[in-house]
Amino acid sequence: MYSRILGTGGYLPQQVRTNADLEQMVETSDTWIVERTGIRERRIASAEETPAFMGVQAALQALEAAAMTASELDAVICATTSSANAFPSTACEIALGLGLNDVIAFDVAAACAGFSYAYSVAHNMIIAGQAKNVLVVGADTLAQACDPADRTTIILFGDGAGACILGASDEQGTLAIKLSSDPSRGDLLRLPFPKRGVADNSNCYLYMKGNDVFKHAVTVLAKLVNETLELAGLEAGDLDFLVPHQANLRIITATARKLKLDMSQVIVTLDKQGNTSAASVPLALDEGIRQGRIKRGDKLLLESFGGGFVWGSALIRY
Ligand code: COA
Repeated sequence: MYSRILGTGGYLPQQVRTNADLEQMVETSDTWIVERTGIRERRIASAEETPAFMGVQAALQALEAAAMTASELDAVICATTSSANAFPSTACEIALGLGLNDVIAFDVAAACAGFSYAYSVAHNMIIAGQAKNVLVVGADTLAQACDPADRTTIILFGDGAGACILGASDEQGTLAIKLSSDPSRGDLLRLPFPKRGVADNSNCYLYMKGNDVFKHAVTVLAKLVNETLELAGLEAGDLDFLVPHQANLRIITATARKLKLDMSQVIVTLDKQGNTSAASVPLALDEGIRQGRIKRGDKLLLESFGGGFVWGSALIRY
């Protein structure tokens, strides 16, 4: 038994925050942001657009693409680090929103690498025979976790949700998965929870030592893509598309260069979406498919890197 992607979906909040909007908020410029990151605008969730709400919308699209009904799902896994509650989990809220009962539902917390981790759990549940159809959602609202006065983080993050349905199949869709972490670097990128009983929680914003994170991300991702290809017994030349985490265009181009891929073979959404954390890979995958660029049978390398540090990949035949 193998696992294979049956359908994908995505949801972006209505509100757009452009670089011009950020020029009004902090001392920055459109030129600086575009040159250093590649980001031009990002979406900002309203109070109603919670990770669960966005996850449900993305899931409904994925179900439609898979020509399935929600009742056919055996499990709901949500990758998020912006859940409204410790419990009920965002996955439980998504299951509720889809009208499900008696379904496996839980969140996975692996920051911007969350989708890779959740995908891996879903794949292993399928090949172990524990579930046939698994909804994997990545949903985050990290724009809200950034200090609006901190120009080093507020420019980077956007909100959104992406989803895919991974199903049991006799065709091999998932060819290789690689996950890992370097917990000794946790201090370089962190998001503390607000503390109960403390009047001032202003130090609970997302903190990032951008330059160091950048260097580690480039090094780790270069190693990760090689390891994943090796696990699958493939070479970079066998790939049709790279579907990378959307943190910084310079990180993405460095990975593409390492793989000798032309940028036409790389799905880039960050210009319009910023870094949507766990949502970024499934949103990019969905966009590539909906634009007709990614076709059935294409070999895709999905990769992500985030706070922890944590990272992960999936090499798939779509
Ligand atoms: N606008 C204008 N100037 C800014 C700025 C902004 N929004 N943010 C920082 N700067 C300034 C800095 O203060 C610094 O000024 P100085 O030289 O006078 O001290 C200068 O720009 C360079 O800062 P630096 O942090 O070295 O820039 P950078 O080229 O590393 O780019 C990031 C900063 C954040 C864009 C980049 O480091 C990055 O993308 N890091 C990784 C992000 C990431 O992947 N995060 C999440 C992983 S999930």
